[in-house]
Amino acid sequence: MSDEVMRAEHISKGFGPVRALTDINLSVRRGEILGLIGDNGAGKSTLIKILTGFHQPDGGRLLFEGQPVQLKSVTHARSMGIETVFQDLAMVNDLPVYLNLHLNKELVHKPLPFLKRKEMKRRAREALDAVGINIPSVTAEVGRLSGGQRQAIAVARSVYSNNAKLLLLDEPLAAMGAKEGGLILRLLAQLKQRGDIAIILIAHNYSQVVDVCDRVNLLQHGEITFDKASGETSVAELLELVHAEYRVNTAT
Ligand SMILES: Nc1ncnc2c1ncn2[C@@H]1O[C@H](COP(=O)(O)OP(=O)(O)OP(=O)(O)O)[C@@H](O)[C@H]1O
Ligand SMILES: [Mg+2]
Repeated sequence: MSDEVMRAEHISKGFGPVRALTDINLSVRRGEILGLIGDNGAGKSTLIKILTGFHQPDGGRLLFEGQPVQLKSVTHARSMGIETVFQDLAMVNDLPVYLNLHLNKELVHKPLPFLKRKEMKRRAREALDAVGINIPSVTAEVGRLSGGQRQAIAVARSVYSNNAKLLLLDEPLAAMGAKEGGLILRLLAQLKQRGDIAIILIAHNYSQVVDVCDRVNLLQHGEITFDKASGETSVAELLELVHAEYRVNTAT
């Protein structure tokens, strides 16, 4: 019980007439990677944005480390150790790589509020090297990098946060080539081994989900309709679940 990092109870969220989430119940533990799957538009990103304080739910509640919590903003969630790699990346395109890596946690010389640029550049290089992805220069503007490189920076930023307790990854592999995607998967496996962080990973590639995740949840019709350990399911079963829905839809 004390290992539970985040729990969502009866979470609902609508956008005007769209009922994106109706009754979400989900939990994730320290040292666990939870895979979240579901069709396009199922509400996965909406759920992640609630878990990171970007959206407020219409109903239900969140418990962080066993305590009910109302996340007021992404910054508030971050201060509690909730780090997110958004699908639509929250990066500032006209700032260089190293400043993006330090957004909202710029190092300053105390008591004078000058940015410690040299130190930030050194740490940025260290974080990127740890991820193992080749970004030529930490002073390059992020807007000029490829989608995969931008996602790698976002992953490095989250992972390098010292106080991360919950890491939320919204399709971090989507824009990556096979090599970069493999590096990120290896990094997730390393984080899992550390054992002190809970991870929720959204991915559309079911074989990656079964490989890297401990447990899989399926989001359908605004609810979690399936919750199994990866070892007890298979790519075939996950495909069948989603396809079965298509068959029902086309039959009616
Ligand atoms: N800010 C918003 N305003 C209005 N509607 C929204 C907003 N965000 C999401 N929606 C709607 O909520 C539903 C769920 O969207 P969401 O982005 O959560 O889906 P998803 O499961 O992440 O899909 P994908 O796999 O394509 O990323 C969709 O119908 C979407 O159009
Ligand atoms: Mg999404």
